[in-house]
Amino acid sequence: MEHLISLKEWRPEKIRQVLDLARDVKANPEKYANAMERKTLLMIFEKPSLRTRLSFEAGMTQMGGHAIYYHTGNSPMGSGKETLGDSARAASRFVDIIMARLFKHADLLEMAEHATVPVINALTDDSHPCQILADLQAIEEKKGTLAGLKLAYLGDGFNNVTHSLMYGGTKMGMHVGVGSPSGADYSPSVDVVADCEAFAAESGGSVFVTADPAEAIKDADVVYTDSWMSYHIPKEQEAARIAKFMPYQVNAELMAHAKPDAIFMNCLPAARGFEQTAEVIDGSQSIVFDEAENRLHAQKAVILTLCNAV
Ligand code: CP
Ligand code: NVA
Repeated sequence: MEHLISLKEWRPEKIRQVLDLARDVKANPEKYANAMERKTLLMIFEKPSLRTRLSFEAGMTQMGGHAIYYHTGNSPMGSGKETLGDSARAASRFVDIIMARLFKHADLLEMAEHATVPVINALTDDSHPCQILADLQAIEEKKGTLAGLKLAYLGDGFNNVTHSLMYGGTKMGMHVGVGSPSGADYSPSVDVVADCEAFAAESGGSVFVTADPAEAIKDADVVYTDSWMSYHIPKEQEAARIAKFMPYQVNAELMAHAKPDAIFMNCLPAARGFEQTAEVIDGSQSIVFDEAENRLHAQKAVILTLCNAV
């Protein structure tokens, strides 16, 4: 039985297989209309969501299955009333697959260790692999390839989406540059950078981290940013973080350093005037809603793959 815990554990061939399936799912959704008939997905949420909840739930409906939305707010799960392992073991008796959006990555690992059905990471403080599969699908659609492209990420470097993009990008042969303030709270984890250097050595890609936003974005094919105030960041840090990240705001001036045909991406939710200007996210280079749509297709491909339904 396989899980999707992080792209760190997925071989490039597995990522390729899911991206190819996602492309077919998008082109021929009717082929998969009964693929999950009478199957149930449990969706566990500790944090808020719009895209993840809707795309997983719609995806199961479209494949003939059902999804249960389960918020942990009034649950014995994680309240100390029972262990996460017991919750996962019990839930596995009712459902065919579980996805979870949790704060602590260690909690997801515990769940996966005890579940007897596949577990999908729907975002933890550390990583967001479903997002990156959708992103890679979108990049390939727009650019025709992944290997050899330069992807520049600007802003919060110590971030789940950043880390997952670094894994996914370097595994697929991309050149990933991260422009973020120096310091352990703002720049990518040194462990993730070391892992990605090894993945890049295998794939022909590369990874680099710089505090200079212009250097990170120079000649980029893909420009990516994410919220400066991720769901798990306390509100009282907001003013300090805005001050820290403002030099990395993706605006027209910074975009001018990227290739003229560069695409702009943000996993959403987005805050105009912060991680990017309205001019950029609402401009012609932005593909943020195509990117969001691919959550549906890529996650269908993940579900079908983990459930051995194709
Ligand atoms: N991009 C993403 O995961 O969005 P939600 O937080 O709305 O699910
Ligand atoms: N980094 C963001 C991603 C939201 C989809 C967060 O964790 O809130």
